[in-house]
Amino acid sequence: NLPTVITVDGPGGSGKGTVTQMLAKKLGFHLLDSGALYRLTALAAVRQGVSLEDEATLIGVAASLDVAFEPTPPGEPAKVILAGEDVTSEIRTETCGDNASRVAVMQPVRDALLQRQRDFRKAPGLVADGRDMGTVVFPDAPVKIFLTASAEERARRRFSQLKDAGVDVNIDALLEEIRVRDERDMNRSAAPLKPADDAQVIDSTGLSIEEVLDRCMAAAGQA
Ligand code: C5P
Repeated sequence: NLPTVITVDGPGGSGKGTVTQMLAKKLGFHLLDSGALYRLTALAAVRQGVSLEDEATLIGVAASLDVAFEPTPPGEPAKVILAGEDVTSEIRTETCGDNASRVAVMQPVRDALLQRQRDFRKAPGLVADGRDMGTVVFPDAPVKIFLTASAEERARRRFSQLKDAGVDVNIDALLEEIRVRDERDMNRSAAPLKPADDAQVIDSTGLSIEEVLDRCMAAAGQA
């Protein structure tokens, strides 16, 4: 009997990252931030001077990622260590996210990361955050959530996150980046971003993070 999984899929800025951290903390479950693996693949490739179009070499980069997620106090994002170096903030840049979505269109790169993701499924349970958690990685998950929000709302959230972090950005440019990335994630042939047939769709537009958490807990049958 495999430990339980709650999958939370959706576009960037839908609140997934925050809500999955809160869910995992509340339930005492492990957390898989699958986007970090695609971001790390892109970062490692750039550092090794590998072209983001060189699929054959990228497969090797993904397969041999030397990564550790170091636990921080519960509810905080894990520290992400790549080959001994803390890259927690480096993988969060827009450039790294954009590069991640370029390598994520390649099916063999996705295959190279598949087992690594499934290995996160441990007792007492897992909250899995991504794009294809419910459709591909954990198709048998008993609870599947698809979290969305309008592109404008997601741009606003990202804008204030970046502003709080002291990063100077233009909201229109951000909205455009979000649209381009959504387009690429939804229209690729390899594991496109879409709700699983048995997913519960939650639209977080206009909801506070606590309200989103409540709905996710209700979806998980724990509220
Ligand atoms: O969620 P995050 O913004 O960290 O993901 C970065 C990119 O990685 C996404 O835009 C998507 O292209 C890719 N990704 C994916 N499948 C996942 C998680 C992320 O293709 N399960």
